Amino acid sequence: MCMEKQQIISNIAREVEQKLSSEGTGHDWWHIVRVQNMARHIGEREGTDLFVVELAALLHDIADWKFHDGDEQIGPRTAEEILSRYKVPKEICTHVCNIISHLSFKGANIATPMSTREGAVVQDADRLDAIGAIGIARACAYGGYKHRLIHDPRITPTLHQTKEAYFANENTTINHFYEKLLLLKDRMNTQTAQTIAQRRHEFMEKFLEEFNKEWDGA
Ligand code: ADP
Ligand code: NI
Repeated sequence: MCMEKQQIISNIAREVEQKLSSEGTGHDWWHIVRVQNMARHIGEREGTDLFVVELAALLHDIADWKFHDGDEQIGPRTAEEILSRYKVPKEICTHVCNIISHLSFKGANIATPMSTREGAVVQDADRLDAIGAIGIARACAYGGYKHRLIHDPRITPTLHQTKEAYFANENTTINHFYEKLLLLKDRMNTQTAQTIAQRRHEFMEKFLEEFNKEWDGA
């Protein structure tokens, strides 16, 4: 990648770090660093445009609608404002913002296709960070931020049919594993991510098995 593009990436990284350094929901600066590194790793193997991949990874959680009164356009709009300030060419800006708009998981039975290979790579990297040991830690951080119960055996998980039902859901943190995290392994776009996801998935299964044993007094 040329020096000019690398400079843009490091300048934007500095801005994102400032904005997300004290974020407490698991969408903090270090989540961004992990997604950027993983996206670069997968993107190199998949032969993608790494400038687009790294920009989208850096900016994908810059302004999440969940924390901005449900404004679904706030993420891509904020990203566009930053990219245009750095004079990133229009077609790259459109591509990055399009990836950010379509990245999120929206419920068990709602497809979230990515129309470009760069988008597929960033979606995989973001989803890999939602599973495994780090995924468990992030789910607990998010549940605490939302004042959710850790677990309530009387509440059963729901496989949502619409994104509205999924987003309105106020379920427990343990149910989030069944409603999202355990489903991600089979929704990876690339072979590289599928292989990494398999190990992280098995770790979550072991965690849940132990959690349930302890719940029953073991
Ligand atoms: P996406 O990255 O697909 O947009 P989110 O930003 O909603 O997904 O979620 C990122 C992470 O935040 C999840 O993988 C999980 O760790 C946590 N999270 C989101 N919703 C919940 C929830 N209802 N309960 C527990 N954790 C959650
Ligand atoms: Ni993310």
